[in-house]
Amino acid sequence: MRAAYASAFDADNPLAALTVGERPEPTHPQDDWVTVQVRASSLNHHDLWSLRGVGLTGDQLPMILGCDAVGEDPEGNHVVIYPVVPTPGDPRGMSILSEHFPGTFAERVAVPRMNLLPLPAGLSVTDAACLPTAWLTAWRMLTTKGRADEAESVLVQGAGGGVATAAVALGHALGKRVYATSRDAAKRDRITELGATALEPGARLPERVDLVIETVGAATFDHSLKSAAPGARIVVSGATAGHEPKVNLRRVFAMQLEILGTSMGTPGELTELLAFCAEHEVRPVVDSVVPFSRVEEAFARLNSGDVFGKVVIDHSV
Ligand SMILES: NC(=O)c1ccc[n+]([C@@H]2O[C@H](COP(=O)([O-])OP(=O)(O)OC[C@H]3O[C@@H](n4cnc5c(N)ncnc54)[C@H](OP(=O)(O)O)[C@@H]3O)[C@@H](O)[C@H]2O)c1
Repeated sequence: MRAAYASAFDADNPLAALTVGERPEPTHPQDDWVTVQVRASSLNHHDLWSLRGVGLTGDQLPMILGCDAVGEDPEGNHVVIYPVVPTPGDPRGMSILSEHFPGTFAERVAVPRMNLLPLPAGLSVTDAACLPTAWLTAWRMLTTKGRADEAESVLVQGAGGGVATAAVALGHALGKRVYATSRDAAKRDRITELGATALEPGARLPERVDLVIETVGAATFDHSLKSAAPGARIVVSGATAGHEPKVNLRRVFAMQLEILGTSMGTPGELTELLAFCAEHEVRPVVDSVVPFSRVEEAFARLNSGDVFGKVVIDHSV
């Protein structure tokens, strides 16, 4: 079957490590695994990290990339794949598809049957393919970790990205005042259309916020600390621009801030997110839909940093 996979690692030019070609059909490590026919998938920064050699080792190559997908189960039902799978031997006890087990950028992918969630009525295959990683992460950052119900205002850093556009759209739908920074003027205009007040990175906010959504890291973390109200939560799920920021600890204890790490979310949180999007008519921000036959272009687009929202792959072409 055709697939897009990491055939090598290249820390400087991840696109050079990507190969598109034939891979063997999926196998089932356990009896409760099934094969899903993939209809749509979406890219995450995680896929670029994998090509750079972050999170994978050479003996795992070749590795089919991709965490997110919507497809058809063996009975022909449309399903959303929850991408976190039990993984004996991994210190976390689990892994995300494309870490230990082949990912979703293929005609077919194997997953435990319990990882399949029904596609809710009203959500398109394309939209739902955006939700299992970036949107789930943003949902958990806002709700379970960030306790958005106790917050009135939210700051989202690096707002053009997949997680960040999700946090802006969901924060707005949850009724919060949302501020969002982006390096790019055109992206700031689009963030405004999503209901946020857009700012240049590092700009002073009109108020200190109760919750900060951090996926950028070293480039924005000091601003996140300075923008946090007393008792605020700064929830971190990524560090695209460096994972060793300088942290002013005096501000952390004086303002009684909570700095919380998080990764992905639970199946229950994905179910909640699917229902929330369907009920509140919240739809993912889709940067572009690229046919699988041109999947390299999708990777190049994400790698360019010019994306606004999610890059989706249509597996029917
Ligand atoms: N822990 C988890 O479970 C989890 C889940 C999903 C993602 N992540 C991590 O979260 C991060 C974002 O993922 P994603 O898929 O949303 O990535 P993405 O779509 O590629 O977005 C990255 C965004 O980061 C901002 N950015 C990048 N470099 C920057 C810099 N030097 N200074 C300021 N902003 C910068 C950009 O925003 P602007 O261009 O608007 O400034 C860009 O849009 C990644 O590091 C990813 O690995 C973690």
